[in-house]
Amino acid sequence: MATTKNMLERALSTRRPAQFTDDGGTTADDEANEETGDESKTRKHISIAVRVTNYLTRTGYLCPILFFGLVIIIISSLVFRSRDLVCISASSSDHISRLRFFGFDGLESDFGSLGVPWCRSKHGKTVEWTSKDLLKGLEEFVPIYETRPIKNNMYGMGFDHSFGLWFIARWLKPDLMIESGAFKGHSTWVLRQAMPNTPIVSLSPRHPEKYLKKGPAYVDGNCTYFAGKDFVDFGSMNWGRVMKKHGINDLSRVLVFFDDHQNELKRLKQALKAGFKHLIFEDNYDTGTGDHYSFRQICDQFYIRGGGHSCFRDSDEARIRYRRKKFWEKAVDIEELCGPGEAWWGVRGQMRDDFNHSNKAISYLDHFQNSRFLESVLDVYWELPPVAGPSLTHQTRYDPARAPSPVVEDGRYGLFRRLGLSTLDTSVFNGYTQMVYLQVSEPES
Ligand SMILES: C[S@@+](CC[C@H](N)C(=O)[O-])C[C@H]1O[C@@H](n2cnc3c(N)ncnc32)[C@H](O)[C@@H]1O
Repeated sequence: MATTKNMLERALSTRRPAQFTDDGGTTADDEANEETGDESKTRKHISIAVRVTNYLTRTGYLCPILFFGLVIIIISSLVFRSRDLVCISASSSDHISRLRFFGFDGLESDFGSLGVPWCRSKHGKTVEWTSKDLLKGLEEFVPIYETRPIKNNMYGMGFDHSFGLWFIARWLKPDLMIESGAFKGHSTWVLRQAMPNTPIVSLSPRHPEKYLKKGPAYVDGNCTYFAGKDFVDFGSMNWGRVMKKHGINDLSRVLVFFDDHQNELKRLKQALKAGFKHLIFEDNYDTGTGDHYSFRQICDQFYIRGGGHSCFRDSDEARIRYRRKKFWEKAVDIEELCGPGEAWWGVRGQMRDDFNHSNKAISYLDHFQNSRFLESVLDVYWELPPVAGPSLTHQTRYDPARAPSPVVEDGRYGLFRRLGLSTLDTSVFNGYTQMVYLQVSEPES
């Protein structure tokens, strides 16, 4: 079993770029060859065009034939090229077909210098794992995911976040895993796949066994449930007693997973008070979206590159948002982003909590102070990237321009297929909301 130091060291290292390279083993090399093939096909079409042109020039038949011939060749070259790169089936949605027709329009980030917010850690550290580790993990996780007991986990986690939770838990190898928000038990099952023998503590108002009456659910044999009539909220738990019961002396050996739609600042303060260090938050909503205050929202500040917003209707941001909204269901335009008094922070100036059953208007100063507090306790902030680009997954909900680059980038259909991702129902890719892993410690004095 790894020592505490090992667990910390494995999770930490100096900052690495979030972009993924193609060094993902043999699969990535194969993919590179495919792309070379695509290029040679294009070159072939162009050389035919040149030969035809030369012939017509020599023979003097320059006239409408030349013009129409060239137009047909160029159009067919473009069609063949985009088909080879995108590989979307004829049955895919009109939405994606439209994107393909316009040559990936809507996929690429046009937020440009506006960027997206990012939380800064105290010493610029980030996680140890690389894009190569994620690719290897994906290869292993797809067959595991196929055996999940709850096939349709609507309102719970989809593929991206299930992979992220499994990957992080397996990397950190904690001695105890805690989850808050179990629903039918899918995330409990994911934790169990990552760590077959590690105890779990699960808090949820409704016991997952209740769902068994109506359909598939998962109840774990090595899990202590604080659920149903025994439910206790994370903030009211006697964690000292639970740790003692599980023989945990070192709280940095515990992984806590939140999927309970509570204000994340509240949860962070409760976790710090209890002494936990490794935290995963499932729904890390972007500014202007979601039913609870999130880290993404808290870190969205004018002084962070890409942070802060303009509510001016004729601004670049307004134009970009208006355009993105046509492509992506969950994208928000400037009208939705900004509340009364041009308040854009949180969700329209509100700090939402408890599935938006409670919310509170906060001033910009409050919000700014929240961000400073967060920065003072953050050792690591790492947003899980989506597993694959939208031209591959056919997801139509989240705007890829507001997410980190995917593990399998658009156009890499061969890799997507080899990983077994093409066999999954497309609906499992619709739930991505920037799941985040945090490592935290008390502020330095
Ligand atoms: C989105 S679901 C969780 C999905 C689950 N993690 C999965 O992957 O399938 C949110 C869950 O949080 C539960 N919940 C609501 N309030 C809670 C609280 N204060 N503490 C813990 N769980 C809570 C809900 O009852 C619901 O089961």
